[in-house]
Parts: sequence; structure tokens; C-alpha cells
Amino acid sequence: MKNNITFTMIKPDAMENGHAGDILSMIIKSDFQISALKLTQLTKKQAQAFYNIHRKKPFFNDLVTFMTRSPIVVAVLEKNRAVEDFRRLIGSTNPEKAEKGTVRKLFATSMGENAIHGSDSIDNARIESSFFFAGWEMY
Ligand code: RTP
Ligand code: MG
Repeated sequence: MKNNITFTMIKPDAMENGHAGDILSMIIKSDFQISALKLTQLTKKQAQAFYNIHRKKPFFNDLVTFMTRSPIVVAVLEKNRAVEDFRRLIGSTNPEKAEKGTVRKLFATSMGENAIHGSDSIDNARIESSFFFAGWEMY
């Protein structure tokens, strides 16, 4: 696997609202290379496992219900400082606090339904990428 990667999911709200194409375009125009890409739909078990770190949080059940509601687009992205630059591109978790021009400012509807996921560290980017893709599917 490449060194400078992050992992992203275009979440159910953005998919349902028809924003997947615009979001992928923003990602590519921001100089991220797509190393892996697919459409999939999380099962309850997969969503619980992916967000296991949040299992004690009050929003956990809502998060699992939301993330399993519709198909999502998942991708591995390569760029120098991929994790940091991608978090800047997507903006704050709460779209009301997200900076102008960020994905969440443009497309998120609420704190829970916030359009997109970005890894918070390179170690988690590797774990999350391997959750969805086999080695031979990452270019
Ligand atoms: P993500 O992991 O999805 O990229 O989002 P994040 O780092 O900005 O936020 P995080 O704290 O990791 O939370 C994961 C996701 O849980 C939902 N959430 N809902 N209702 C709430 O208070 C609340 N807080 C978090 C969001 O979908 C958030 O992205
Ligand atoms: Mg997070």
C-alpha cells in the first residue's frame, strides 16, 4: 500500500441527494489520486465494526442506522499529507462550523448526516482502507 493515503466514504445523505459526482470532482481537483474506488452498502455489523471506537457514544445507534440506510462510495486517496489535507477539504464535523468551500459546508445537512468521512490518522487510513479493499484492489 502507498505511504501517503487517506480513506473516504461518501455517506448516505450525500448519495441520496445526488452529490457523489460533485464530491468526487472536488476531490480530484484538489490533487488527490484515486487508488481504489467502489459502490457498496454497509451491513449493520460492518457499520458497528467500522465505528467501533464510538460504540459508547450517545449517537452510536443513530450513526449505524444512518450509515446502513443507502449505498455509499468508498475510496482510498493518495496525496502528500493526505490525511491533513483531506480533513481540511471536508471541513468540521458540524457543517454549521465548517469553513466556506468545504465538502461539509456545501453538502452536509447536520452533525450526524455530514456527507463524507475522512480518516483521522495515517494508521486509521490503512486500517479503514483494508476494511473495504483487498491489496490487489488498491493501485
Ligand atoms: P468521520 O469519522 O465520519 O470522518 O467524522 P469526524 O471524524 O468528523 O467525526 P467523529 O467524531 O469521528 O464522528 C463520526 C461520525 O459520527 C456522527 N456524529 N454524530 N449527532 C452527533 O452528535 C454526532 N457526532 C458525531 C457523524 O456522522 C460523524 O461524522
Ligand atoms: Mg472520525
